[in-house]
Amino acid sequence: MVDYEKLKRDIHKTLGIDLTAYKDQQMRRRINQWIERHQLKTYNQLVATLETDIDHREKFREYLTINTSNFFRDTKVFDVIRDKVLPEISRSARPRIWSAGASIGAEIYSIAILMNEAKFTPGLLLATDLDESVLEKARAGVYLPNQIAGTNQEYLDKYFTKKPNGHWVIDEKIKKQVVFKTHDLLRSTYERDFDLILCRNVFIYFTSETQQRLITNFVQSLKPSGYFIVGSAEQIMDPVSYGLQRVSYCVYRKTL
Ligand SMILES: C[S@@+](CC[C@H](N)C(=O)[O-])C[C@H]1O[C@@H](n2cnc3c(N)ncnc32)[C@H](O)[C@@H]1O
Repeated sequence: MVDYEKLKRDIHKTLGIDLTAYKDQQMRRRINQWIERHQLKTYNQLVATLETDIDHREKFREYLTINTSNFFRDTKVFDVIRDKVLPEISRSARPRIWSAGASIGAEIYSIAILMNEAKFTPGLLLATDLDESVLEKARAGVYLPNQIAGTNQEYLDKYFTKKPNGHWVIDEKIKKQVVFKTHDLLRSTYERDFDLILCRNVFIYFTSETQQRLITNFVQSLKPSGYFIVGSAEQIMDPVSYGLQRVSYCVYRKTL
């Protein structure tokens, strides 16, 4: 078996994903599971398959980037967003909000629903991801029952249509409010002047050096007093060193 370092270089070349920024142990385990599942014997065989089989390559990309998401994921955080963050940032005319590592769009659409409920008008609802195939799903706005399971009945009735095949389609009015774009957190430039940035359940896969670099970038992209929200397993150890103050569960605020 060729070594993991070479595999990382090959994956970078073939898929454009830089695995040196991700935690080795976790990624290795996932890649080994994939190899086993597809009855490939070596890293070399995996690379050869990725180079020749487009379908395999795209499925592997999806698998590596781990796209799991759902509406109102971690309801406690959405309670804070509804009761504290949105009323606060909506004092500024037309707040700008960015969901980074947005996956299928469930997170940004959940925010759009809350804004709509409170009759706040967003200036920008931006959702970005490295993986174009999940962004296509996000733009389509069609969801499986498990992906909308955290949504209360009132919002389901108001903002979704249930199709005969059991899929749930997000309301056109909500969909139109969101801009979806491809963006690699490791390589692309970061837009500025956001009132709120959410980057949840993305950091956990990165090394701590990469996490530090990304947090610094996010803080630069926030307006003064802007909010930054991470996933429940991604608490920031020393928020003050980044110019952040912990406000609540998973929620930070820029102090400058
Ligand atoms: C587990 S999902 C999180 C989705 C959503 N934020 C949530 O919490 O429900 C992680 C997402 O991060 C994206 N991702 C991974 N590496 C990335 C990178 N370097 N740049 C941008 N997005 C990335 C993946 O494609 C995936 O859609």
